[in-house]
Amino acid sequence: MLFKRQKKSNVLNGENPPLRHLGIIMDGNGRWATKRGLMREAGHRSGAEAFKRVVEHCIDRDIALVTVYAFSTENWKRPQSEVEGIIRLLVEYLEEGIAGGREKNSRVRFIGDRSRFSPEVQALMREAEEKSAHYPHSLNVALNYGGRADVVQAVNKLIAEGKREVSEEDISNALYTTGQPDPDLIIRTGGEMRLSNFLTWQSAYSELWFTPKLWPDITGEDIDEALAFYATRQRRFGDVAPKK
Ligand code: FPP
Repeated sequence: MLFKRQKKSNVLNGENPPLRHLGIIMDGNGRWATKRGLMREAGHRSGAEAFKRVVEHCIDRDIALVTVYAFSTENWKRPQSEVEGIIRLLVEYLEEGIAGGREKNSRVRFIGDRSRFSPEVQALMREAEEKSAHYPHSLNVALNYGGRADVVQAVNKLIAEGKREVSEEDISNALYTTGQPDPDLIIRTGGEMRLSNFLTWQSAYSELWFTPKLWPDITGEDIDEALAFYATRQRRFGDVAPKK
């Protein structure tokens, strides 16, 4: 039900099928801080505020599903203090959601290998997922996530189930995003024009929108600009006529 094409066109959709899944690569926290002579952790704190602002804006725009790239499998290479700072922000976010301390909320799910987080953090993740399960809008938070690793875990799951041959549908259904539509649009802030192992399988036909703006500076107006861009795209999926 949640992911059926919504009858009500969400704002700025134009002729395209309504946007059902928006992916966001939140890049530029470190540079935002450095430009201000601050520690990188301050950039992540400001990035966490932008994250909450943008998620609320996406609820206002009636986007059924948003996936944010919060922590990649490669991010563990950063200095321990920075990694700990990001995890602290995550814990604050989880505790706030669990306590019902947010005006607008989403059904949260964590995608990625959570086994590397402490048992306490994993328990908070589970509690946040359970307590938010009734909200109509969904949010995937990609944590210790890598798109290739997701495909590998999916294939290993299928092997363990005894499959000797797999279809695209089998793999899609075994990914962390099982049952969810592929992202229609992926936004990346911070000026880089690549996907960096984000939703690698699922992004095969995604529209892409890049902005040089750094993540902590992103506003609802920027998101609307990306949605307006999406509305101008003709999505053909390899066909000749745009899909309606
Ligand atoms: C990329 O910027 C950002 C990250 C690796 C961390 C993202 C974390 C948050 C937005 C805050 C915490 C999240 C939650 C879910 C509360 P960068 O550090 O790579 O920036 P740079 O390219 O300028 O160095």
